[in-house]
Amino acid sequence: MRITVIGTGYLGATHAACMAELGFEVLGLDIDPTRVASLSEGLLPFHEPDLPALLQKHVKSGRLRFTTSYQEAGAWGDVHFIGVGTPQRAGEGAADMSYVDSATISLARNITKDALIVGKSTVPVGTTRRLKNLVRDNKRPGVKVNVAWNPEFLREGFAVVDTLTPDRLVIGVDSPEDEAVLRKVYATALAGGVPLISTDFETAELVKVAANAFLATKISFINAFSEVTEVIGGDITTLADAIGLDARIGRRFLNAGIGFGGGCLPKDIRALQARAAELGVDHSMRFLDEMDGINLRRRERTVDLAREMLGSLSQSRIAILGVAFKPNSDDVRDSPALDIANRLFDEGAEVSIFDPAGNLNASRRSPQHHYVSSTEDAVREADLILLLTEWDEFKALTPEGLSVQTGTRKIIDGRNILRPQVWADSGWSVGSLGRRYVADQAIEGTPSEQLQMSSSPAP
Ligand code: UDX
Repeated sequence: MRITVIGTGYLGATHAACMAELGFEVLGLDIDPTRVASLSEGLLPFHEPDLPALLQKHVKSGRLRFTTSYQEAGAWGDVHFIGVGTPQRAGEGAADMSYVDSATISLARNITKDALIVGKSTVPVGTTRRLKNLVRDNKRPGVKVNVAWNPEFLREGFAVVDTLTPDRLVIGVDSPEDEAVLRKVYATALAGGVPLISTDFETAELVKVAANAFLATKISFINAFSEVTEVIGGDITTLADAIGLDARIGRRFLNAGIGFGGGCLPKDIRALQARAAELGVDHSMRFLDEMDGINLRRRERTVDLAREMLGSLSQSRIAILGVAFKPNSDDVRDSPALDIANRLFDEGAEVSIFDPAGNLNASRRSPQHHYVSSTEDAVREADLILLLTEWDEFKALTPEGLSVQTGTRKIIDGRNILRPQVWADSGWSVGSLGRRYVADQAIEGTPSEQLQMSSSPAP
């Protein structure tokens, strides 16, 4: 079975390399010739642990090739995965389906033997049925081309492991033959015990957006409680630990802080609301608007806290540690950290940023900041430090170590990874998201109930 993967971003490049790892002959297609040239040399144009090794291995073995030609892909492949982007449409919540549509049409026009098109992109419910009609209207006569949906749940930073050993496989199919083809594609995972849910198109499409909506809701839920503990006192991490021990709730995705960002969660909850409105059920998804609001308010709160700790942001020097939307990624799409940096700059602060992988992408989007290559360079002249992405090297920071590198003793922990009492004991003022900030805590001490430590650091 020959497999093509249309679109070679995070999703497509990972899927292509993993399909080669599973033993298939794979052809990746992208309309960007620079990307194709780079991938063909085994060079990954973004940061993703474990993927470069897999890419190089299979480019070398000849099992994985890349092209810009739909003609080549259409004549060659038996199963065509579509992994192009569905970004938020400018000025609206809805998803921009133009890349999926044009990939499907281009494929359908160029397929010269019976084949199955399998969508992996995150799409509005109803897309597969619509694409089936597009394929029917554009395919060559005499060639059988069917469409299925197989949503992808990979997390950036864990893309390879999530693709090779997912929690579950979900397929939306309308014929047993198509299910049989997909069972063959995923035979290794199925033999390893990965559950497969085979269902209709609509359910398969909804599984993906429902999962992301749930995860976004879980994060915003705990962040909503941060808004309460910041006013009344209490410790958000201990609260999360305690409710997370209830197996029905679970501790994962209850880390309070500056909130969620990235190329998926924010745009997916907006696209879901837009689609629900089109379907006349906007009231059913209205709660997601509140989740989005809670999430965006965390960024405002971080800026307010910085202002509170400095007196004024104007002409202040701020160091930001971490600008990627999450650790182990260079992705800054809808990064809360970069948004906070921009807001601080707009209020007159001078911002120095260090991220182990995200500097380049951030500097392309927000060139107004200073980008430096170490924590030390970022904090040296700073009046205040903001720790905004929980990279391991920032988790390992100690008050003693940081005190040698900077004159300031003020830090905001945007991810709740520091032990505030330990830092306060070393003379630092620690602003947290989810704990009440007390201006003189480092000097006069803080009432114990406000700095109650959780027994273990947040995972
Ligand atoms: C997400 C989904 O997890 C994945 O299944 C889907 O395929 C794509 O979208 P990803 O965007 O890679 O994956 O990141 P994820 O690990 O989900 O984190 C999303 C955002 O939420 C990050 O900004 C992260 O920092 C934030 N987050 C996560 C929290 O603020 N608190 C948490 O407890 C967990």
